[in-house]
Parts: sequence; C-alpha cells; structure tokens
Amino acid sequence: MQTSERTAFGSFVADLHELFATVTDGRQQADRVVARLEILLREPGWLESMIDVPAPEDYRFRNFLLHRDELGFPAGGSGCMVLAHSVPPWQASPIHDHGPCWVVYGIYQGRAQLRRYRVAPEAGLSAAFRLEETERVSLDAGQALAFYPGDAHDIRSIAPDKRLILRITSQDLSQVEKYNYDPHVYTRRPAAGGD
Ligand SMILES: [Fe+2]
Repeated sequence: MQTSERTAFGSFVADLHELFATVTDGRQQADRVVARLEILLREPGWLESMIDVPAPEDYRFRNFLLHRDELGFPAGGSGCMVLAHSVPPWQASPIHDHGPCWVVYGIYQGRAQLRRYRVAPEAGLSAAFRLEETERVSLDAGQALAFYPGDAHDIRSIAPDKRLILRITSQDLSQVEKYNYDPHVYTRRPAAGGD
C-alpha cells in the first residue's frame, strides 16, 4: 500500500468524523457524504491497494470491510461503516431498507441502477405494504446516491466487466431492525445480518 493511497481513504474517514460531530441530522449527513464520497471516488487506485479484487474468472459477490465505528446515526455517535462490494454482472439486491440508518452507495468501477420506493400500508390489510417506485437513476463510476432512514430501495449492477461499489452506512447494520420487501405478495420480512 502506498502512503498516498492510504491517505486518500484515511482523509475521507477523518472528514466524515469531523462532519458527523457537527451535522447531526441524518438526511443532511447522507447528502454531505455523497459529495465527499464523489471526491474520493475520483482518486485512482486507492481501493485496489486495500482489498484483493476477485479475478475476472472468479468474480463473485464479496463484502470487504474498510472501516467500522462503534456508533453513528441515529445512536448518537459520530461514526459510520464503510464496505466495498465486488458485484457480478447484473446482480440485483432485493428491495430492502436499512431501518433507521441512512446509506450512501458510490460507484468505484462499473455502473449500477438504483431505485427508491415509497412504502405505503395496503388499505384494509394490516400486515401488507404497497411499493411505489419514486426514483430510478443510473450511476457511473465516480457518482454516489443517498437513501435516507426508512427508504426502501434496490441496486443492480449494469456493468459487463468491472464492478466495485462502495457502501457507507451510518452504523453497523447487524443489530438494526430492517426489512426486505416482496413486491409480489405485498409483504416485508425482517432482514438478517449486516446487509
Ligand atoms: Fe441498501
């Protein structure tokens, strides 16, 4: 790892800590992270120096933990969690939320389509939810997008070759109440793990 590459990511994390110490609103934090992440994404080479990028013939979904603090929004800390995903072509996430946490996705290599949904209770059915797509964007390398606390969303890789995506969440999600949504049967179920 070259010192300049370590500094690019280290400076990014330090800037976020400084930001979260003064900006405590979740939506404002997420918007500011988008702007700062797009600066980091334009720095060449720093991510490859931190992770073992899967070879093209063995390209599979993997999480790489780059940074984890104990507490962030909404738990009152000034931290966050940063993952890099290697994503096979055309792989899509389920529609999901991250509970009370915000999330920012940024494209390091490749291209992705992201969709945001409004979740509305289905009239007359206490456990049912209706999803309305409210936003659909395609991000190229160097671009980022925020989803706010409670936003349902999905993300699909639409790049044929290189696909590295950054994900920043306001907390480690492993202990957060969050949901995956099934739009075909209008239900949601608790999502496990840190995804
Ligand atoms: Fe997500």
